[in-house]
Amino acid sequence: MSRLKNRNKYLVFGLLVVAAVFIAAGNHSLPAARLSAPLVLDSIAPQLPDAPFDYTDIFIPGYIQQSTDSFNTPFLPLLDSITNAGAALGRVLFYEKRLSANRQISCGTCHEQALSFGAGTAGSPGFAGVVTPRNTMHINQLVFSPGTPIFWDGRVQTIQQQVIMPILHPDEMGLTEPEIIARVQEASYYPPLFEAAFGDSEVTVERVRSALVQFVASMVSFQSKFDEMQENGNLNVFTPAEQQGWLLFQQTCVLCHIEGHFGTDSLFNIGLEMEYPDPGLAGWTGNPAHHGAFKSPTLRNIAQAAPYMHDGRFATLEDVVEFYSNEIVAHPNNHIAEMLSFPLPFRGFRYSDEEKAALVAFMHTLTDTVLLTHPKWSDPFVPVTNTAHHDPLDFHWKVFPNPAAHEVFVSWPVAVSSDVEVYLKNLNGQIMRQLHATGGSYRIPLTGLPAGVYALSLQSGKRQSVKLVVIK
Ligand code: HEC
Ligand code: HEC
Repeated sequence: MSRLKNRNKYLVFGLLVVAAVFIAAGNHSLPAARLSAPLVLDSIAPQLPDAPFDYTDIFIPGYIQQSTDSFNTPFLPLLDSITNAGAALGRVLFYEKRLSANRQISCGTCHEQALSFGAGTAGSPGFAGVVTPRNTMHINQLVFSPGTPIFWDGRVQTIQQQVIMPILHPDEMGLTEPEIIARVQEASYYPPLFEAAFGDSEVTVERVRSALVQFVASMVSFQSKFDEMQENGNLNVFTPAEQQGWLLFQQTCVLCHIEGHFGTDSLFNIGLEMEYPDPGLAGWTGNPAHHGAFKSPTLRNIAQAAPYMHDGRFATLEDVVEFYSNEIVAHPNNHIAEMLSFPLPFRGFRYSDEEKAALVAFMHTLTDTVLLTHPKWSDPFVPVTNTAHHDPLDFHWKVFPNPAAHEVFVSWPVAVSSDVEVYLKNLNGQIMRQLHATGGSYRIPLTGLPAGVYALSLQSGKRQSVKLVVIK
């Protein structure tokens, strides 16, 4: 097995080639009843809990702790650097739109929590509409394996280097270092957050970097069905299809998506095509043997992270499995055939339909709804609390059914408030439905909304209450 162990040779010179295509964001919002003026999200201060969420209680299951694979070892200096106040500041900065030239986008605009911190589109428009030439990567497990290359082409070695790059990138967020400091100093909510994290309120690029790193490093995912199966050593947690998929996955896929967090610290050419328009690793090493080699990303929460591959060419996991089954191209650098010593030309694993479905079913067991929905990683500029949260505003309201399919009802006693705005937002803060209400029962149609977790909020003057709704 010859993994490309290039990490010591990595240098950082990542200038992205830019495709100047503008994609207008789709507007899915349909008014449910009377419309009132839309909420101006930028003017809102972040809604933070009185005591910060716990970012240090990173759950690492026993089977990972006992694993002998170095790739499953957390990078302790990074893990230990996480503090609750530091990551809480990082969360606000991650969703801070002031950190882009036109104040319209944040890290969270491209890296959406509900999409495994991916974007859902093959390229993401930066502040001026210029689309990133590569698929936005989904994020988790970056605290593992020191030296895991960052970005699709592995051109950056640490997340400390990485986190400031999008802010400075001329097509993504477009600021300079002095502007980063000035923008943060503008907002009145930062001094106490810096003080809590660093002892005083001074704003420096290093502190912004450190807080962002702590937040991103806390995105660890070990609460999936797969973990439940592995932790209990009980394969019966899985359906027969998931069991079959896991067996197949272990035969070949684990070579590059190592059991644990299902990525590796190496880059591979998997034979997507003969002529790669994007040279990948070779783009900065200049080595022809690296042509078409890309990072093998973590597959945790992969079902939420479509589209797939460095260029987002596959829309579904079914398409990905079809590729590995029948569409692999005999590129001279193709590592799959080489690693498995398959005779050439190697065109794919030739799975049956049942096996393909089983692999897809298995990949769905890697979904961890805690990482995808927990408020501690959510956008604080869009207040989202979980359903069990105390309703401090005493609306005494109900949401039903939940999960909902075609419609959801909200109801509260008329006496509680006479003048209420109801918002249904996706977890990126986009308003999908909005109505003005005075108490009683209201029906909100859901047709056309993608399945997922949404935040339903009631607002009356300064009073607000939020519940999560799952749309099936
Ligand atoms: C305009 C969209 C956009 C914005 C804004 C953005 N990113 Fe990204 N992010 C991307 C794309 C595209 C990639 C992959 C780039 C590549 O491989 O060349 C990426 C990759 C990453 C990765 C690498 C993950 C891995 O496994 O290697 C991290 C971490 C990351 N972004 C964090 C951030 C942070 C932190 C911010 C805010 C400071 C941010 N991003 C802002 C689009 C964006
Ligand atoms: C030789 C190493 C290797 C093997 C074997 C391998 N993969 Fe991959 N996988 C990769 C690399 C590298 C990428 C990214 C390739 C790119 O974008 O050009 C990838 C991408 C993926 C993605 C998309 C990830 C994303 O974030 O877009 C999925 C899903 C996936 N692989 C599943 C599988 C399955 C299922 C198998 C077994 C049938 C498998 N892989 C076998 C290396 C491998």
